[in-house]
Amino acid sequence: MNKFKLADRLANLPIYIFALLDGLKAEASAQGQDLIDLTIGAPDHLPPQEAIDALIKALKEPVSHKYSSFEGDPDFLAAVIDWCKKQYNIKVEKNEIATLVGSKEGLVHFYFAYLNPGDTLLVPMPIYPSHFRGPILAGAEPIVLPTSEQNGFLPDLDLIDDSIADKAKILTLTYPTNPTAAVATKEFFVKAVKFSKKHNLILIHDFAYAELYFDNQKPISCLSIPGAKDVCIEFHSFSKTFGMAGWRLGFAVGNPELITALKNIKTNLDYGPFAATVKAATAAMKTNQEYLEKMRAGYQTKRDIFVDGLNSLGWNLKKPAATFYLWAPVPEGFTAMSFTKHLLKETGVVVSPGVGFGKLGEGYFRVALVDSDDKIRAAIERLRKAGIRYA
Ligand SMILES: Cc1ncc(COP(=O)(O)O)c(C=O)c1O
Repeated sequence: MNKFKLADRLANLPIYIFALLDGLKAEASAQGQDLIDLTIGAPDHLPPQEAIDALIKALKEPVSHKYSSFEGDPDFLAAVIDWCKKQYNIKVEKNEIATLVGSKEGLVHFYFAYLNPGDTLLVPMPIYPSHFRGPILAGAEPIVLPTSEQNGFLPDLDLIDDSIADKAKILTLTYPTNPTAAVATKEFFVKAVKFSKKHNLILIHDFAYAELYFDNQKPISCLSIPGAKDVCIEFHSFSKTFGMAGWRLGFAVGNPELITALKNIKTNLDYGPFAATVKAATAAMKTNQEYLEKMRAGYQTKRDIFVDGLNSLGWNLKKPAATFYLWAPVPEGFTAMSFTKHLLKETGVVVSPGVGFGKLGEGYFRVALVDSDDKIRAAIERLRKAGIRYA
């Protein structure tokens, strides 16, 4: 029994599966088990050298150690404008950009800026947990849009009742998707923009994996759809693109009214990222395409090792077109959680149970391919030795 009573918003939050998993990992490590941890999507690649050099230089400038400006560093904003044009062929102005302390911070605060207790929003599942935990923290109710392998993990917007869509305030999308590695077509985004306009919805597009794609199948920005800026705010992350997860940097672009609201809530909560890291991120956006190509090639190799490995153990998985995740069914007789525990106990390989990404993740596990090629090969060999097969 705790001495101090938590606020309802925290007390009522569903259990965080990944905190539970942390406990299991700590226990296994304490018992001397050698773990191969494929749970957290913290990239394996390093930031561009230009970014590290820019960080060191900025650290020596006294101005870097002051509070950052609420409006954002002008060099950073200019680099975001160029980056968006060059990478996604989208045109944004300075007043259409918010600088974020990582995209998770921006996303959850954005939910707080627009959702009152009792409000609803439309959320495809399975999805990155902040897209339902953030709204629940704000007192809102996520309406689940079920997705599955059969429909390419794209929600069927035609199935949503008009009254439900009219009442909702937000439609959240994130393609490429964590955890399923699904990608969306241009036609789907066109439909989503039209649907959002018809039902007066804010359209959030979480584009954290924008640069993590394979075989030249480049994902598109939702803002590249004509008219999308009327309803859409898109969140970008430096964590995955530039291997800067620990730096905490991201940005949002899109509808200026939505951007202003996000900045307004943030002025009451933080002062933005550390100025020196903003200078480094500015340099990262000016790096050459070779850096990104090398990064993608690295994850493609890991993907191929792991998918071929699981397929040699009875799975029948397609190679994902994007992200560094693999979403796979658990063998018969297991739940997502019981398979995760079994794998940990028998092999020391740690994966994420699908239920961590919503109830519709039951029956699946997610692998984050963010360790060395040798470790990824070793993980497969451990499964083989332990007789773990898909059947
Ligand atoms: C889909 C998605 N969005 C956002 C984030 C948060 O990224 P960050 O806050 O590091 O920018 C993650 C992190 O794993 C993610 O998978």
